[in-house]
Amino acid sequence: MQSGKMADSLNCDLKSLSPLQLFERVTEQGEKVRALKAGKAPKDEIDAAVRMLLSLKLSYKTTTGQDYQAGLPPKDLALINNGTAKEEDEDLVDPWNVQTSNAKGVDYDKLIVRFGSSKIDTDLINRIERAIGQKPHHFLRRGIFFSHRDMDQVLDAYENKKPFYLYTGRGPSSQAMHVGHLIPFLFTKWLQEVFDVPLVIQLTDDEKYLWKDMTIEKAYEYARENAKDIIACGFDINKTFIFSDLDYLGTSAGFYKNIVKVQKHVTFNQVKGIFGFTDSDCIGKISFPAIQAAPSFSSSFPQIFNGKENIQCLIPCAIDQDPYFRMTRDVAPRIGQPKPALLHSVFFPALQGAQTKMSASDPNSSIFLTDTPKQIKTKINKHAFSGGRDTIEEHRKYGGNCDVDVSFMYLTFFLEDDDRLEQLKQAYTSGELLTGELKKVLIETMQPLVAAHQERRKQVTDEIVKQFMTPRKLAFEF
Ligand code: TRP
Repeated sequence: MQSGKMADSLNCDLKSLSPLQLFERVTEQGEKVRALKAGKAPKDEIDAAVRMLLSLKLSYKTTTGQDYQAGLPPKDLALINNGTAKEEDEDLVDPWNVQTSNAKGVDYDKLIVRFGSSKIDTDLINRIERAIGQKPHHFLRRGIFFSHRDMDQVLDAYENKKPFYLYTGRGPSSQAMHVGHLIPFLFTKWLQEVFDVPLVIQLTDDEKYLWKDMTIEKAYEYARENAKDIIACGFDINKTFIFSDLDYLGTSAGFYKNIVKVQKHVTFNQVKGIFGFTDSDCIGKISFPAIQAAPSFSSSFPQIFNGKENIQCLIPCAIDQDPYFRMTRDVAPRIGQPKPALLHSVFFPALQGAQTKMSASDPNSSIFLTDTPKQIKTKINKHAFSGGRDTIEEHRKYGGNCDVDVSFMYLTFFLEDDDRLEQLKQAYTSGELLTGELKKVLIETMQPLVAAHQERRKQVTDEIVKQFMTPRKLAFEF
């Protein structure tokens, strides 16, 4: 009886919910049912919860016209499938493609709504500042890391002196890394420093072997080469574990157990929906998402966490990696693990413009970590898309457009001085500063930055790489 009444009031309630809110209600209720069953709750209590779940699922179907699928928030159904179902003017963003028709780049506010994540707003930035007692990184202040999931939970943990750890990664697709690849690592390094927490870095050489036309030996080699560039960002060897999947998977029972647990809880249908796999994709691709999910659980690293299972994980990554972690977060409660929290960054624009992410195979699309000062200068002068006017007269009269100017965008990533950046923006917008002059500032910013990176990378010996990549206890007690 009581559950009948509950269902009535529930139904009016539900009418006012958005598809996404409904989706969340169904997911929560599903978790509740599972918890009741796992806790061997009384049968009528379980039955009532199941009825509620069915009624929620029905409302979801009525509202969205689609069946509820775990891990697939309503908007994703349109978005993913490799973008085939996206609306005309929508940006395409998935782990393999980034495409927009807008010169300003992807509309990130819309992406937050579509992905169902939360905006990193001033309140959150202020809270981070209070927690760490210092000025937040300019990537946070300038909206380069713009979206998150459950960052408040991480801060709760931190403020209550509970541990958490960082997890990030890279697919070693080639030897050549460009400055854009450094963004998540520079930010992760800062997080590691201010929060003083362990960090694990996954190099998905297996993923690149599966997706690219590449031998397994090459993928393995690139992982080590890329590790040098990552180490050159300045990570603390006592607090950082870097691993290649091809190596670590075979040596860690903890890691493999988590992979299998994730595999058991995700259907082929779900990964098809989330990643757009088709029947003709190899089974390696289909099961790979479980391998990217597993490092989100501390039990994948018993040597670091002393076998502890429930340490909260925080993942800084570019927003295109979110599908992997939506899946992970959906599975987590079902395998008795905490959901990883996330911090998402925008994409780093190609020199040619913000419509697409850069490609490591086009040497002119970005500044590479191996570029000489001269190459940097030529590339910027020749290829950096300008928001300036066609003639000097027009530029002086109407001013330049920082929103589409790639040199200005790069400066927001790499010029740390807030006042200087603001001055440049004013001067460029008013027409006082010409494109060539703005490019000169960028050249002078990037040349020393890249040279310093090359210098640090030279110091990274094979022995140091080996140490970072050896499974071991880190400088933390658990
Ligand atoms: N799939 C990512 C890439 O192709 C690599 C990766 C693995 C990753 N685990 C991660 C990236 C965690 C960010 C966070 O680059």
